Amino acid sequence: MLAQTPPMGWNSWNTFGNDINAQLVMDTADFFVTSGLKDAGYEYIVMDDLWEADERIDGRLSWDTAKFPHGIKPVADYVHSKGLKFGIYSCAGSHTCAGKPASYGFEEIDAQTFADWGVDFLKYDFCYAPPGVAGPSLYSRMGQALRATGRPILFSICEWGKHKPWEWAAKAGGQMWRSTGDINDSWESILDIGFKRQVGLEAYAGPGHWNDPDMLVVGMYGKGNVAHGGCNDAEYRSHFSLWCLLASPLMIGCDVRNMNAATRDILLNREAIAVNQDPFGRQGYFVGDNDHGGEYSSVWAKPLEDGSIAVGLFNLGERPSRLAVVGWESIGLHDQRPCHVRDLWTHEDLGVHTSNFTTTVARHDVRLVKITPIHS
Ligand code: GLA
Repeated sequence: MLAQTPPMGWNSWNTFGNDINAQLVMDTADFFVTSGLKDAGYEYIVMDDLWEADERIDGRLSWDTAKFPHGIKPVADYVHSKGLKFGIYSCAGSHTCAGKPASYGFEEIDAQTFADWGVDFLKYDFCYAPPGVAGPSLYSRMGQALRATGRPILFSICEWGKHKPWEWAAKAGGQMWRSTGDINDSWESILDIGFKRQVGLEAYAGPGHWNDPDMLVVGMYGKGNVAHGGCNDAEYRSHFSLWCLLASPLMIGCDVRNMNAATRDILLNREAIAVNQDPFGRQGYFVGDNDHGGEYSSVWAKPLEDGSIAVGLFNLGERPSRLAVVGWESIGLHDQRPCHVRDLWTHEDLGVHTSNFTTTVARHDVRLVKITPIHS
């Protein structure tokens, strides 16, 4: 099954926008291997919009020859030679969001073209959709066309959450679907897209079908195509922790060739990634918040296959704050056994706790813990 756990990889859009080419894709594949990203589970290298030529050639999509002098297939072959998978972008309307030719009315021929090139992942956008044709039917057309090629191509539906895609996208053949509009590199965007708009969507996710709150902005620091002031490391740590708890696809959006140490520590945190990739495949849910005189916090919990609960205690306020899990039943543990608590960012065991866990969290930061009942 495709996407048995949330897909992991990189997408060109957040940092590079129009500034993509064959060398960038191949360099990124190289860095996946040398930086340890591949070993940590990141797999798909996805080229977003603006790889296309301005016109179809003989009815087929073609590439921008300045960016891809030898076409797309050799680039896909190179990515495969590194043991990685290759993704591309098109759109359910007549044109892509950046105005290039797209797949409406050409679904079968485009799906076959992608299969011929060795594409493993298709991000499929929603600009210039024909009026009067419903989103689910547009996406089903491409879902069926991809299936008909016989090649396993992960179908990433990008309808921006407009028509509740969590209710129909899996049936249309999607393994993931955007549940919101576009993210940008700011704390406000993380608050809106992550902390606000994912509440209640947990029922729709599971192995093979995932809500997608958009690609990561970790490590962008205000540079690139969706720059919006940028975030600090605590904010990126919170962003990554929430996406791990949400069982969201982990699609890196920064320039991995130039990651600093803090960005590496975040993106390569295997204990956080293990929460995201847990085989149980449950999406974490919003437990509650508390407002301490202007300070604001948010607690999320994700049940794991081994009976533990991963919990994120997020301080969304402006000063350090005491945050707590009050009663194990509040995170879904219904007997009152003592639990081991482990910090998944400092990689320390925090000892045995009886029914509560309280901690101090810095401004915009998170305490991500794994709470494991002790079996007698
Ligand atoms: C839309 C999508 C983005 C990106 C751009 C490309 O805005 O939501 O993620 O793919 O189009 O033009």
